[in-house]
Amino acid sequence: MTLRISVIGTGYLGATHAACMAEMGYEVIGLDIDKTKLDALAAGILPFHEPGLPELLRKHVASGRLRFTDSYAEVAAGADIHFITVGTPQRADSQSADMSYVDGAVDSLLEHINGDALIVGKSTVPVGTARRLSEKIAQGAKAGSSIALAWNPEFLREGFAVQDTLRPDRLVYGLDNGRGLELLREVYAPVLALDTPEVVTDLETSELVKVAANAFLATKISFINAFAEVTETVGGDIKVLADAIGYDKRIGRRFLNAGVGFGGGCLPKDIRALQARVSELGLSQTMGFLAEVDQINLRRRDRVVSLASHMLGNELADKQVSVLGVTFKPNSDDVRDSPALDIAVRLYNEGAEVSVYDPEGNANAAGRFPRLNYVDSYTEAAKNADLVLVLTEWDEFRELQPADLASVVSQRKLIDGRNVLDRPEWREQGWSITGPGEYFELGNMAPATTAIPVQS
Ligand code: UDX
Repeated sequence: MTLRISVIGTGYLGATHAACMAEMGYEVIGLDIDKTKLDALAAGILPFHEPGLPELLRKHVASGRLRFTDSYAEVAAGADIHFITVGTPQRADSQSADMSYVDGAVDSLLEHINGDALIVGKSTVPVGTARRLSEKIAQGAKAGSSIALAWNPEFLREGFAVQDTLRPDRLVYGLDNGRGLELLREVYAPVLALDTPEVVTDLETSELVKVAANAFLATKISFINAFAEVTETVGGDIKVLADAIGYDKRIGRRFLNAGVGFGGGCLPKDIRALQARVSELGLSQTMGFLAEVDQINLRRRDRVVSLASHMLGNELADKQVSVLGVTFKPNSDDVRDSPALDIAVRLYNEGAEVSVYDPEGNANAAGRFPRLNYVDSYTEAAKNADLVLVLTEWDEFRELQPADLASVVSQRKLIDGRNVLDRPEWREQGWSITGPGEYFELGNMAPATTAIPVQS
């Protein structure tokens, strides 16, 4: 019999998971409380940018294998395995994760499930959550119904979400007394057939694997950015340094690109939530280094704003500034905690006229900061610019040539925030160009310390 699967929460993770489960041949129902989102998905329209996903969504809405609802009763009756993929955003009042959506999903499932079922958490949660939910389920399940809980963290990257779901680096299952293993293996049979490593462990380890992976990646980025602060002061080439240490297989070259730092919906909130959680556990010093990781990351933004000001004679007011790239990384329309958007807004707040062009991110950025001037091409953005900043490394910007902008700008000045341009070449064409990791005399710039933002 075809496996019947529900996916609770159809955001980034859930919409991807639902479409990929349908692609694996299952009967899938996606649930969300947002009716507008459901209507769009049911019409085969994806409310965010993710390469390859719209095609998969349309294919399986059309095949009838993938449908959407806002009814828990329908989900409980129509599926035997329920994946929880709701968000765990940073709380507005602290650095902890907001667990209300996860708890709400479990409560609603408990209210409606009558027979046997497996609930599989995929959301990123503070360690101890699954154990707590397991107890809640044991107490709240209806008489005669047997409900098991497993945790199955997700490691997908935006921009590669489909590929990372269908061909992940590994599968991790956190189990409660071994329950649910057979069903999980059945669900993931097509992935396991690709020789994907499988890690079978307990609930706590599975929760920690996810935050440990993200904390490690964030640390790696801040590590190289800390060295960028050194080369900015003493000289040296941060890219060569990264290449040279990256040849050591124990270190590896990936995630050692110095730039404007990390952002997005995961890394920043996950390192903050991990610190908050271990503090609750009485281990206030254990993850203290992550506060440094966060600060190094946020200082990247200060540096770019200071560089911009310096390059414009310490006066940003009324200067025309062009920001190319506003998403937190390329191939995404996500501007959550985006260093690029933050820098654009700070330049605006200092009085600059800021024109923004991003291949996919303009609409989301305009939703948050409507006062920037959003335009449809990099030439339009760079028109009469006193300074151009490349802040997200879309291919379109990596391929920029000095001549592409020379005739439209007012001054040939550029900050290569992601270290992707051939600076000697630009200099030869008369540009003043610099970027993260490069020695640049800033005078008596006070080292800035930035307060960690609370999520909006
Ligand atoms: C991340 C994890 O990679 C993924 O496994 C997890 O499931 C979710 O969080 P994602 O948020 O899509 O994925 O972004 P990622 O590709 O990890 O990049 C995060 C940020 O780091 C981006 O802002 C990116 O520009 C920045 N970055 C990445 C660097 O500044 N330097 C690097 O060398 C690599």
